[in-house]
Amino acid sequence: MKRRVLSVASECVPLLKTGGLADVVGALPKALAVHGWDMRVLMPAYPGLAETMKRPKVVWTDTDLFGGPAQVLGGRVEGIDVLLLDAPHLYARDGGPYSDDSGDYADNPERFAALCWAAAEIARAGLSDGWRPEVVHAHDWQGGLAPVYLRQAGVEDVRSVITVHNIAFQGRAGADKLDALRLRPDDFTSEGFEFWGDISALKAGLVMADAITTVSPTYANELMRGEFGMGLEGVLQARAGVLHGILNGVDTDVWSPDTDPAIHPYSARTLSEKRKNRAALIKEFGLGPVPGPLAVVVSRLTTQKGLDLLPDRLAEFTWRGGGLVVLGSGGPEIEMALRHQADLNPRRIGIRTGYDEALSHRIFAGGDAVLVPSRFEPCGLTQMYGLRYGTVPLVAATGGLADTVIDANPAAVSAGVATGIVFHTTDALGLEQALRRLIALYDDTKTWRQLQRNGMKAELDWTRSSAAYATLYEGLFE
Ligand code: ADP
Ligand code: GLC
Repeated sequence: MKRRVLSVASECVPLLKTGGLADVVGALPKALAVHGWDMRVLMPAYPGLAETMKRPKVVWTDTDLFGGPAQVLGGRVEGIDVLLLDAPHLYARDGGPYSDDSGDYADNPERFAALCWAAAEIARAGLSDGWRPEVVHAHDWQGGLAPVYLRQAGVEDVRSVITVHNIAFQGRAGADKLDALRLRPDDFTSEGFEFWGDISALKAGLVMADAITTVSPTYANELMRGEFGMGLEGVLQARAGVLHGILNGVDTDVWSPDTDPAIHPYSARTLSEKRKNRAALIKEFGLGPVPGPLAVVVSRLTTQKGLDLLPDRLAEFTWRGGGLVVLGSGGPEIEMALRHQADLNPRRIGIRTGYDEALSHRIFAGGDAVLVPSRFEPCGLTQMYGLRYGTVPLVAATGGLADTVIDANPAAVSAGVATGIVFHTTDALGLEQALRRLIALYDDTKTWRQLQRNGMKAELDWTRSSAAYATLYEGLFE
């Protein structure tokens, strides 16, 4: 019989995505099925999601889930078993999943506590169709309270795992919310979920879960340091024995240049076809000829991603022959600075904002290089999409970026293993030097082809990492 795991998350492809978390949550069920694990994904029924399910069944109900009635609708969406927590008082909002134009929803702590409460109840008593998980796998702070509620409910035969996708978001709430969040005051201590006088949902998960994972081996090490741990480094040091860095994979059904319906298809053997995508992208953005590398960015426009450093580097980069195409979301200041550069140099720099999945595929296919100069990056997916599409990644040496890209230093080039450019200090000079290397490498056609081909060959699918998750789950019962 298949073993059963309940994934608890705030987003999941193909239902709702604001970032890489959704890609990963959506890819894991397929990847784990191979190892005999039946994973169902519990997430909020944000407006419109229930309609995407064919004949959903009510599999769980509650008359008072943090202030109103709730039910869980079970069904399949594109091959994933999804459980939608339908609680209109919490999730029927006009804005996005976390915020609207006036900022974060004030009741976010309750909204995601409710998700965790439902998860723990499902683990305790099972769904009405008889399904009951052996493992609860929570993601980020939104899933952080699930291990706490499991413990409060005295559920002893179900194990819990929490995955940190980004420690910058910690789910803090004032201590006055203890009652509202149905938390026991005994655990409001520095060994429990108290964090600088507040409740921290992420810390709660880190302290209470049976195992902790994060999305790359390097980030697992970084998290234990003050520069990266964002105040939780001590907690992670204390739990180092149960902390595992498991690299994210790429969903190769979606991200493969030879089968991608959004582009002119090509493979490592037909790399010259990639040119058609480059030409189409240049046309789509209204650029003129770009003699040097066409760099691309598909990203949230935030300081995490180091993109505040980019605008001031562009005059030199374009003067040396480079071009730039950006698809960005959020971050009005960085957007303005990039737009200013695009206005100064519209034949070399193009920018689009908003969220556009199909365009992102055309950009990865059409670019020569993808820029990911992050200050920290738990895993990062776009550098991996770049590798798969022969779009050479230029990345900062941090987190998953350091674990997925091999720098084109002379040793790696002569050994024939290099896949990109890795620079060490995310500051203005670091990025400037990396962009100069990009120009020079692009000119060296032979080495450039080697980088492209090596990247396209790299094993980036979920095979290895899903096996690591399965082994981790199984180990929890030993
Ligand atoms: P993060 O989750 O920190 O934002 P990741 O690299 O892990 O970073 O994942 C980002 C995901 O979101 C990738 O799948 C990327 O292609 C996608 N993405 C980011 N911005 C946009 C956008 N404006 N339009 C379409 N896709 C985007
Ligand atoms: C977070 C991180 C990103 C990671 C993604 C999926 O959003 O910022 O680096 O790839 O989660 O794990």
